[in-house]
Order: sequence, then structure tokens, then C-alpha cells
Amino acid sequence: MVMGLMIISFVNQKGGVGKTTLSVNTAGAFAAQGHKVLLIDADKQGSASTWASLRAEPAFQVVSMARENMAKEALYLAADFAFTIIDGPPHAEQIARSCIIASDFVVLPIEPSGLSTWASNLTVRQVREAQAYKENLKCGFVVSRKIGNTIIGRDIRVMAAEAGIPILEAEIEQRVAFAESMTMGKTIFEWNPRSAATHDIERLTREIVDHVEKDLHSSAEAKTTDV
Ligand SMILES: Nc1ncnc2c1ncn2[C@@H]1O[C@H](COP(=O)(O)OP(=O)(O)OP(=O)(O)O)[C@@H](O)[C@H]1O
Ligand SMILES: [Mg+2]
Repeated sequence: MVMGLMIISFVNQKGGVGKTTLSVNTAGAFAAQGHKVLLIDADKQGSASTWASLRAEPAFQVVSMARENMAKEALYLAADFAFTIIDGPPHAEQIARSCIIASDFVVLPIEPSGLSTWASNLTVRQVREAQAYKENLKCGFVVSRKIGNTIIGRDIRVMAAEAGIPILEAEIEQRVAFAESMTMGKTIFEWNPRSAATHDIERLTREIVDHVEKDLHSSAEAKTTDV
């Protein structure tokens, strides 16, 4: 587990794909590991803030920051936390761009049916544009709300990887426990620590951290070889 600061955002212009569910539970996973975690609610709808307001005791700190020029402030706040998670808005406007540019890793949750049309997704274009400025910005699709044995076609995986937006191995299934825990103001780790839903989130967080760490290690190696 990396000990430095890490900023992870969940962004997709498409509504209802699981951005808030994954943001809250990813934050919950890091908090359950004992890390200091910040969740930034960058959506004017305030779903993550509403979730937080259902609780007597906070699971981690939550701030709402749905402002166009929020990237700088997000980076400033994130400096005090081991992990900062950003819950993005359901559109591809300036706020979404700010979420992306502030991140080390951008997760694009996508329903299996959306995978066939990813190439026309504006959020994908925004991530690519951001990578032109910030070359160590990592990203990946996560299949979200997957039902049963939906098979993600190998051709789609290959095409997405070639376009620089890999589809992560971890997949999030459609599970009642996700919806229930959100309604009750709980993370899945509090609601049902040994559920399949918990396992989905653990796999996702591990994979994201591995991707970011790998990059840190390879850039450290590159520096050593340069000397
Ligand atoms: N894996 C899942 N299993 C079951 N229900 C889910 C899952 N992911 C999300 N949901 C449900 O789907 C709905 C939309 O999820 P969520 O609010 O996380 O999406 P979103 O992308 O943040 O939406 P918006 O674009 O409106 O911000 C919610 O009712 C949520 O409980
Ligand atoms: Mg949301």
C-alpha cells in the first residue's frame, strides 16, 4: 500500500453509472484500512453530502466543492489526507474537467451496455486532453452495475486499451447491498463487511493503488538510471 498522497476521481458524463456509490465505498475502504480520507463531492446534486448527512458519526471527511475552478483547492485540501476521492458530476462541463486534472487516477464507471459506445463519450475525450498536460495521469474504465455473467468482449477490451483507457480487471456487480447501504448512510464495510459487494470494492481499490504505485516505481527507476 502506497503511503503517499493519492487523488482518485470517479467521473462519467453519464448519469446513474455508480460514481457516488463507488466514491463513497472506495473512501470507506481506505478509511477501514486506517487511512485519513477525504471525499470531495463535486456534484451540485450533492448525493455524497446527502449520504454523509444521514450519519451520526462521519466515516471520513466529506466536503462539497462543485465549482468550476476547484482543482487547486482540491489539491490544497488533499495535502492533509492519504487518500482523496472525488465524486464527479453527471455532465462533461468544466467541473468534470477540474476533477480530472486534480487526479492521479480517473475511474470511469461504465455499465456493460455503455462499453460499446465508449469512443463517443465526452469524458473519455476530456481525460485524453488532460493527459496531454499531465502525462502521469492514469485512468481506467470500471464495469459497474454488471448483471450476472455479462461477458465483456475481448475486442472491446483491446480497443479501449489501445486508446489508452484500459478496462480494469475488477468489476462491480449490481448488488442490493450497494443500494441498501447507500440509503442507510453506511459504507458497504459497515453494512456487510463480508459481502460480495465488499469484495468487489476491495479488488477495485487494490487495482487502482497498484496502477498508481507501479507508475511511481517506474519513474523512480527511470530517475536512478538517468544518474
Ligand atoms: N453496483 C450497484 N448495485 C446496485 N445498485 C447500484 C449499484 N451502483 C449504483 N447503484 C444504484 O444506482 C443508482 C445510481 O447510482 P449512483 O448514484 O452511485 O450513480 P451516479 O453515477 O453517481 O449518478 P449521478 O450521475 O446521478 O451522480 C443509485 O440508486 C444506486 O443505489
Ligand atoms: Mg452521483
